[in-house]
Amino acid sequence: MCGIFGCLSNNDNIALLMLKGLKRLEYRGYDSCGMAFLDNHVINVKKDVGEIDRVNDKVNFLELKGHLGIAHTRWSTTGKVTKQNSHPHQSCDGNISIVHNGIIENYEEIKQVLTVIGHKFVSNTDSEVIAHYFEEKLKNKSINEACIDFIKEIKGTFAILLLKQDEDKIYALKRDSPLAVGICKDKNILASDIHAFSNLTNKAIFFDNDEFGIITKDSYELFNKDGKAIEKLIKSFEWKEEETGKKKYKHFMMKEIEEEPKVVDRLLRSLDYEQKNDFGKLIELIKKSKKIIFAACGTSYHASLLGAYYLHKIGVEVQTLIASEFKHYANVDKDTLVIAISQSGETMDVIDALNYAKEKNAKIVSLVNVPYSTIQRMSELSLNILAGQEISVASTKAFVNQTVLLLRIAQEFGYGVNLKNLSAKLKNLFQQKEKIRKIAKKISQSNDAYIIGRGLTYPVAREIALKIKEISYIHAEGMMGGELKHGTLALIDDGTPVISLISNSDEDIISNTREVEARGADITIITNNPTFKEQENVIYVNTGNDGKFGLLAATAGQLLAYHIADVLGRPIDKPKNLSKSISVR
Ligand code: M6R
Repeated sequence: MCGIFGCLSNNDNIALLMLKGLKRLEYRGYDSCGMAFLDNHVINVKKDVGEIDRVNDKVNFLELKGHLGIAHTRWSTTGKVTKQNSHPHQSCDGNISIVHNGIIENYEEIKQVLTVIGHKFVSNTDSEVIAHYFEEKLKNKSINEACIDFIKEIKGTFAILLLKQDEDKIYALKRDSPLAVGICKDKNILASDIHAFSNLTNKAIFFDNDEFGIITKDSYELFNKDGKAIEKLIKSFEWKEEETGKKKYKHFMMKEIEEEPKVVDRLLRSLDYEQKNDFGKLIELIKKSKKIIFAACGTSYHASLLGAYYLHKIGVEVQTLIASEFKHYANVDKDTLVIAISQSGETMDVIDALNYAKEKNAKIVSLVNVPYSTIQRMSELSLNILAGQEISVASTKAFVNQTVLLLRIAQEFGYGVNLKNLSAKLKNLFQQKEKIRKIAKKISQSNDAYIIGRGLTYPVAREIALKIKEISYIHAEGMMGGELKHGTLALIDDGTPVISLISNSDEDIISNTREVEARGADITIITNNPTFKEQENVIYVNTGNDGKFGLLAATAGQLLAYHIADVLGRPIDKPKNLSKSISVR
């Protein structure tokens, strides 16, 4: 959720680097942002409400001087979107400044105690207590002792960067929210994820839970919760970064959809070469396990539903669960293999599900996009989906590569699918953009839309509905065609948009489509059935009878959702209330 960034450098002017670094984390939250710099023993703070560029236009972060700073981009949890609630937060005396990602669960209790002894709070956030907590502790304790107490006394999750007016250091603490140090030649960078600094270094160390650290421009010391110094291995990471910036595109979402052919090929190649061993190990683990459960959220969950469909077709029993409900529905033991699917690798609901599964001694593997993310580091084995950086909050190319990896797994068990021509088929689909935009214009005029599918296309119906809701703010329901008559049909009136996903000549979904049409629905069809091809309301996907249709229909849906949102002038890459990395429960 929020993004935090800190830098300590030899160079006295780091404002631009800080601004660029923070921008790279903006997909984690964009309600407000701010920076605190240490300059000649004075902490200077600038912050305000809005996206980083807008706030920068107003406050000009580049005026901040100094070689040491912390920064924050917020996704609000506690406290409304106001300037006062923006980070960094200060202690009463202004000597301490902090940025925080996470939730301090017992902040009200702490705030009350601190208020009684005279602390004045200016925000309604949980995070502000951190600055006052340290101010109070440091009256009679060392900073290390204060950190040890903090980890003991605080309930909740945190990645914190803390500046003290009299020290050329950044103090950092972490529990559950991600935190890494990027090691560069002439500076150290602290950030919520490696993307923040992957353009500057490929070396990083990662904080684990209940650790704290003292970072200078050329050193770092890390400690466990008892204050014992710990050794950290420097990890070298490889992070595929597509051409930076939006280039010719109006939005990252479209750029990322058009990257799909390239990233599909990259993943397929890697499964044959670089990741061949790990892929083989994963197949063996699946074969050996008595029970297989996927755990995922949102779009990644829809990919897992497709995975379950493919595997069921060839007799491999798998269950898939939305991670936030995992502990209520999963029956897990030592013979269970839990396969986590996550783009960010930081989704708290998935992490919780994995912790629950670990307690029951299940085996954990994962399919993730962000290397060295928490979920990857929690897994015995993890495959990279190699979609590269996904900036738009709406997941597109990551969904495609998650599904491709699941198809490859199913292939190993005998599922017949030709993946070699997938990227060409994707490119082919992009040629229908004009037709898709025309259909999108029509749908954009409605308040509700229904997307129906069956079997292979049921997960796709849900995924298209999620995409439409997320970026266009139109209410959309993705459902099994067969369920319509059990209730939802009552909502279909003259002109209600229904998108029907017709795989080949699936008679059942064709009848469901007729049923809604008879009630006046305005039908759009996404199909690989050539008999519908020439109709105006049809997005034709030129592919055969293998499981690729599901994937290609999902991409057609991504394009449709994109154009609906674009016609409506929505902020497509940064939809309201959302964030790319959901690290709260
Ligand atoms: O990073 P993850 O794949 O674990 O994220 C899960 C969901 O939050 C994510 O897929 C979300 O639904 C997307 N923004 C939808 O486009």
